[in-house]
Amino acid sequence: MTLVHNNESAALLNLPPLDIIFGKTPAMQAVRNKLERVAETDVPVLIQGESGTGKEISVRLLHAFSMRARGSLVKVSCPAIPNSLLETELFGYEKGAFTGAMTTKLGRVEQAHNGTLFLDEVGSLDLAVQSKLLQVLQDGTFTRVGGREPRSIATRLVSASNGDLRTQVEEGTFRLDFLFRINAVTINLPPLRQRIADLPILIDYFIEHYAKTFKHTPELLSKSAVRLMQNYHWPGNIRQLENLIRSYVLIGSEEALVAELMPDAPRTGGITTEIDLNEPVSLKRITKQATQDLERQIILKVLQANSWNRQKTAKWLQISYRSLLYKLSEAGMPEVPPRPIRIPQLLKKPDERTLKTTAVSARTRIY
Ligand SMILES: Nc1ncnc2c1ncn2[C@@H]1O[C@H](COP(=O)(O)OP(=O)(O)OP(=O)(O)O)[C@@H](O)[C@H]1O
Ligand SMILES: [Mg+2]
Repeated sequence: MTLVHNNESAALLNLPPLDIIFGKTPAMQAVRNKLERVAETDVPVLIQGESGTGKEISVRLLHAFSMRARGSLVKVSCPAIPNSLLETELFGYEKGAFTGAMTTKLGRVEQAHNGTLFLDEVGSLDLAVQSKLLQVLQDGTFTRVGGREPRSIATRLVSASNGDLRTQVEEGTFRLDFLFRINAVTINLPPLRQRIADLPILIDYFIEHYAKTFKHTPELLSKSAVRLMQNYHWPGNIRQLENLIRSYVLIGSEEALVAELMPDAPRTGGITTEIDLNEPVSLKRITKQATQDLERQIILKVLQANSWNRQKTAKWLQISYRSLLYKLSEAGMPEVPPRPIRIPQLLKKPDERTLKTTAVSARTRIY
């Protein structure tokens, strides 16, 4: 089975359509292909990616399109469970196993029988629990705490991590044999900044989605705001983008959106000479960064003083107009002032809500 015709299934799972999830960039097409190929198999999959890149979404798709889709998808948020409770939580216990064990309790591993077991943030599992899970992967058996007989289990293991498990192996906090077992296939989700060509369709999707949810359509984002978003580094990835658009639809303020993305304002009002003397420093890199920060602050000041008239600003700064435009786009700064807060409108029809350049550039002419 391929995922190609499964947009409806994605809707049933309460997920965005697959064309939105995977976008158009080659990096995400590769992810989609890999996911399609492994979904139906029973091999353990490791999903790696920064926070907010869609690891959980990928796990839900893997389960939904697997042969165990009728079984449960059982998630274990590994860091959320204290180490002292992890073993009983995962493997359950027999009645009388310890004081207070009044009844037999099934663990998450057993609940995932005929389904998928999802270990989120697998890197935080302690070594003893890794060994016990290794046994499940090797021969499909485990023993409840306080139990004598090993029990058989048929489940597919999917793990997720946003850190480097290889480094953990080197540091001795992760078992190499366990790593080999859990990552028969690894899917690496690219950060949003590496799939920035997908940004416009994601913005459109989230605007439409939240416009429906909140029952009002915001104004088009200006061209400069979109450019700022394209130059931004998105440390929180798609989750951050989604949150930003949600507030934009709700509050209707492009100014607030732009403020979130603008490079940090100077904290001390000057260039700092504070450096970490425990490691070598690159004088070239530090001075280049400082020059850029200083330039950005000065340009911003002069732009504001000249009511964002770029011709006047360039003259004032004694640089060419072209050079100013270049510096603005390099620094990811808007060429026009952020739009003031507007009262949300309830008027627009859905087909007016696109990011088409024609419509957007008409708006930017206002300035
Ligand atoms: N490819 C995508 N397309 C559309 N929305 C996405 C995509 N990836 C993530 N999202 C949205 O971003 C949010 C975070 O996604 P998800 O929980 O899957 O990320 P994660 O990688 O598991 O993050 P974390 O490491 O913080 O747990 C979700 O609300 C989801 O709707
Ligand atoms: Mg997650």
